[in-house]
Amino acid sequence: MARGKQPGKVQRAPKVHRAVVTHTVGDFEAAFWPDEQPVDNAVVMTMGALHEGHAALVRAARKQVGRDGRVAVTVFVNPLQFGADEDLERYPRDLDADVRLAEENGADVVFAPSVDEVYPNGEPQVRLTAGPMGDRFEGTTRPGHFDGVLTVVAKLLHITDPDFALFGEKDAQQLAVIQRMVADLDFDVEIIGVPTVREEDGLALSSRNRYLSAEDRAHALALSKALFAGRDVAAQGPKAVREAAAAALDGAEGVALDYLALIDPHDFTEVADDFQGGAVLAVAAKVGTTRLIDNVHVICR
Ligand code: PAF
Repeated sequence: MARGKQPGKVQRAPKVHRAVVTHTVGDFEAAFWPDEQPVDNAVVMTMGALHEGHAALVRAARKQVGRDGRVAVTVFVNPLQFGADEDLERYPRDLDADVRLAEENGADVVFAPSVDEVYPNGEPQVRLTAGPMGDRFEGTTRPGHFDGVLTVVAKLLHITDPDFALFGEKDAQQLAVIQRMVADLDFDVEIIGVPTVREEDGLALSSRNRYLSAEDRAHALALSKALFAGRDVAAQGPKAVREAAAAALDGAEGVALDYLALIDPHDFTEVADDFQGGAVLAVAAKVGTTRLIDNVHVICR
């Protein structure tokens, strides 16, 4: 007899948490608010291709609202935030796998709308703008990207109407502009940043990592190594952080650097050499044909 089995007792499979999958706003609302019961609720917005980094977001959302609260995961590849020469068409899509990962980590409802459901009037003529905060760093290489992000995030906040919305710290500039939108435009939601999840060797998890060849992946490790090298000397101040990170990246094989910067997370401007306090050391680079971003928090003294 297998260990733990008792004769005469029915062995039940462990209870599997199932998420309701919805594709329309009406179905989502019915599933997310099945009754008038006031419970805390949280949303995790994604473009799908979910990985352990998203799983951490969903788990954090569940922890935030407790067992009786509700957690929604949105899966929507938002065309508005892709440039003309970017990977909108080839962006990985696998809803079944996404639903599995979402429910295994505690989601109650998955909202996976079509483009027409989100933009029923066609391309929106009125959009939110991230302003100067969205023009720097990522915004230089990806003009209009954050306007597209904010426009869809605002719409999804209206549709899901959560108490909490959780976003990954890996997209530090995205998190900063969303926090600023919520503060500046009086959205009634708490934005929570969730730490980046990394592979054991330091590579930050990203849906775009699946584009990397084995060789690219090895080259990509230079990014996190540079960030860690900068962080290690944070006690010596911003100049030392920048120099250590730059030195670690110098001559890195297969890496075409876009930017390496030490940034004030509040307004996303580069910090001065005499800056003291919490900053974001951020890097963006093309590795092979894939553009990767990463960052770490540093406390400069
Ligand atoms: O971070 C993402 O996956 C996207 O930018 C978001 C926040 C879901 C908006 O499309």
